[in-house]
Amino acid sequence: MKIIIIGATGTIGKHVAKALQKDHEIITAGSRSGDLQVNISDPDSIKAMYEQAGPFDALICVAGDGHFGPLEKMTDADFRVSVNSKLMGQVNLVLIGQHYINPNGSFTLTSGSMGEDPVLLGASLSAVNGAIDGFICGAAIELKNGIRINAVGPDVVEESPVYFPFMPGHEPVSMHRVTLAYIKSVLGAQTGKAYKVFA
Ligand SMILES: NC(=O)c1ccc[n+]([C@@H]2O[C@H](COP(=O)([O-])OP(=O)(O)OC[C@H]3O[C@@H](n4cnc5c(N)ncnc54)[C@H](OP(=O)(O)O)[C@@H]3O)[C@@H](O)[C@H]2O)c1
Repeated sequence: MKIIIIGATGTIGKHVAKALQKDHEIITAGSRSGDLQVNISDPDSIKAMYEQAGPFDALICVAGDGHFGPLEKMTDADFRVSVNSKLMGQVNLVLIGQHYINPNGSFTLTSGSMGEDPVLLGASLSAVNGAIDGFICGAAIELKNGIRINAVGPDVVEESPVYFPFMPGHEPVSMHRVTLAYIKSVLGAQTGKAYKVFA
């Protein structure tokens, strides 16, 4: 299978890439790193990446920025950081990528736990995570040619200790369990699923 992984050098993405590279052709992409450069916040950049990559069987996105800060001080511009990157970046990967992906291919996006398990300072991430889960639910019933779509929504992962102080009472999830959710999405047969990964 030819698999594009956006964010393949990241905390989560490097584990997903390592697990899949044994048996599959992996094309890595990032804004600075990877085989191909793409800024997911820019639809023209996404189109250029797909043109360069050629036909593919699966797209995994493990990238997307979000704003983390107090609601009391949150501005329209702050909120749009999450919308433009994590939400619309991933939505556009699908809207554009559906015209490049091979029949029976799959898209796997990344949401998170905050849509249903909120923490202080995370309102914009709660919103976009919920929107991503809603998008894959709706898109799954319209995608043509057997194309599937799922999202992986991890709780804080064990290799991101910088977030631990902001997530009191959350048990970090192992990289192994998070990686398995991406593998389930790509190599399994399900569609329209939001795989939540809690410890
Ligand atoms: N870490 C966690 O505990 C956790 C938990 C739940 C959900 N998540 C979600 O999982 C995703 C990845 O998190 P992470 O902690 O693995 O992030 P990370 O370590 O910061 O890695 C981000 C990856 O995405 C790429 N990237 C960043 N901005 C990009 C852009 N505009 N266009 C294309 N690629 C871009 C980076 O490569 P370049 O530097 O080359 O751009 C890097 O490979 C995020 O959406 C995050 O919200 C993370």
